[in-house]
Amino acid sequence: MSLQRPAPRPGVLQIQAYVPGKSSAPGVEKIYKLSSNETPLGASPKAIEAYLAAAATLHDYPDGSATRLREAIGHTFGLDPARIICGAGSDELLNLLAHAYLGPNDEAIHTLHGFLVYRIATLASGGTPIVVPEKNYTADADQILGAVTARTRLVFLANPNNPTGTYLPFDELKRLHAGIPPDVLLVIDAAYAEYVRRNDYEAGIELVATCDNVVMCRTFSKIHGLAALRLGWLYGPVHVVDALNRIRGPFNVNTPAIAAGAAAMEDTAHVQMSAEHNARWLGFLTEEIGKLGLAVTPSVANFVLIHFPQTKGHTAAEADAFLTARGLILRQVSAYHLPHALRCSVGSEEANRLVVQSLAEFLDRKA
Ligand SMILES: Cc1ncc(COP(=O)(O)O)c(C=O)c1O
Repeated sequence: MSLQRPAPRPGVLQIQAYVPGKSSAPGVEKIYKLSSNETPLGASPKAIEAYLAAAATLHDYPDGSATRLREAIGHTFGLDPARIICGAGSDELLNLLAHAYLGPNDEAIHTLHGFLVYRIATLASGGTPIVVPEKNYTADADQILGAVTARTRLVFLANPNNPTGTYLPFDELKRLHAGIPPDVLLVIDAAYAEYVRRNDYEAGIELVATCDNVVMCRTFSKIHGLAALRLGWLYGPVHVVDALNRIRGPFNVNTPAIAAGAAAMEDTAHVQMSAEHNARWLGFLTEEIGKLGLAVTPSVANFVLIHFPQTKGHTAAEADAFLTARGLILRQVSAYHLPHALRCSVGSEEANRLVVQSLAEFLDRKA
């Protein structure tokens, strides 16, 4: 064998591959998967019907422009479909942004507990991730602005953020945008926007509509319950959408995803029901887990971040093992610099009650 071999570009081997939430517990019959922020209510029956109907045309390539889907999104939100691009999950769109706007020596800013894909996409593009501290597990506009340099090309902000569930109010978002140079793109990742019930929140549509350097990413994986289909969308200025359309795969979104996504978008009753379920049980989990003496970061999304003590017998790792043995699969978040916390998605009523009951039993154990 030769000593020489192909080497990936600089940055690639710095990447820790993304580890998805666990989905099984050995030896446990009934599993409650609360590790990936999926909806407990499933997809809209209309989306499932559209997905099944798409089986009749599997031999044809998809519509490479996902026109039906962009029109459905445009109709629902009152947006120009020409300013929308769809992707195989918002993950793909985040990666396309990095590939289009970052190169060697370029910097992309994200916050300490920000969604992991920002770092991966930045390094994969040869760029440098710049990580800024948060305040109370919340993005801090001043920290972000303080990190902007002549090399900054992108600012990634999850709003609300995963895994903390915290958010920046619209006034803060506008202040952040006002301080960002016009040649830097602000990426607002609003994957959990549909769950937020706060008067001072805005997903990003207004900023995108009026600014040349802002995009908003959304997903069908959460409230629409289509995670398996891999579907996301981005609303942006025409010049950004044009750049991304040049580098994406020509058929990056498949026919069943287009059909199911359009039907899901139009089923507003299903979205509303899911949001109501979430509001009720997010409140329940936050309060009841708080009553047990564990700190829960106030969340506006469909999950809670639970902080554990570092005393032996009661640590996050031990809680994870205890809950997993009962079929409750939460998410370890050490990769997010949160080694003493677990993230728990809002599940079905049964799952939510079981989480609280099991945590109570866990905390009652003798160390
Ligand atoms: C903040 C955030 N952005 C994007 C995504 C990716 O979503 P998708 O399934 O659309 O790729 C997730 C998924 O967990 C997320 O939490």
